[in-house]
Amino acid sequence: MNIYEAVTSRRAVRGFTDQPVPREVLDRVLTAAAWSPSGSNIQPWKIYVVTGAPLAVLKKRAVERVEAGVPWDEREYEMYPRELKSPYRERRSAFGKERYSALGIAREDWEARQRAAISNWDCFGAPAALFCYIDRDLGPAQWADLGMYLQTVMLLLRAEGLHSCPQMAWSQVRETVADVVSPPDGLILFCGMSIGYEDPDVSYVRTGRAPLEETVSFIDDGQALNGELAS
Ligand SMILES: Cc1cc2nc3c(=O)[nH]c(=O)nc-3n(C[C@H](O)[C@H](O)[C@H](O)COP(=O)(O)O)c2cc1C
Repeated sequence: MNIYEAVTSRRAVRGFTDQPVPREVLDRVLTAAAWSPSGSNIQPWKIYVVTGAPLAVLKKRAVERVEAGVPWDEREYEMYPRELKSPYRERRSAFGKERYSALGIAREDWEARQRAAISNWDCFGAPAALFCYIDRDLGPAQWADLGMYLQTVMLLLRAEGLHSCPQMAWSQVRETVADVVSPPDGLILFCGMSIGYEDPDVSYVRTGRAPLEETVSFIDDGQALNGELAS
């Protein structure tokens, strides 16, 4: 698989088979992902990979607590600003429409949406998950490093025929995760990631993207130069 195929075939898969992910595959992926860049090479990611009985226990505890309506754990970071402004607000709402229409759920059917959301904590059926932590003393630039690392992992998983779903949802039950992985003090759980083989019977709508002109500007020889640059 070439890199373009890996990038374009990666998507947030929300339906996995129970086919186990071989340990040597996870080792290979995570060994290669360690080559991800980070500012001053500080490699701020701290990763826990959970499979087998520990993952089964974690999923059960997390799903049970969410179903029982136990409040979310106190937030350690905001997933989104409270007032999401344009164009982010519209993109987020378009994503919600796509996601729930793929599942045949009406937007106002809050209960069905809740049920779909709960599958987050069952890892959408995946037999493997990783949890990505960062030291609470680190700042936005190091959080950006985490993104590069996680995308590298997801692309390498594609090269192995695997799929993934990154999930901030796990941060809402971070104490349940901590009970299983026992991270040292001082770490913040950024997200989890479900990992496995895609269940082809689960329907989905491929998420769209903003047109390139909305997010990318080329400043090149084709532009008229202003004042200082022109002289
Ligand atoms: C940091 C991060 C956290 C995410 N958290 C969740 C989550 O908790 N649950 C979920 O179903 N999808 C989650 N997603 C997946 C996004 O919804 C998805 O990447 C986005 O809609 C684009 O779709 P695509 O990845 O299928 O192209 C997350 C993605 C990222 C990058």
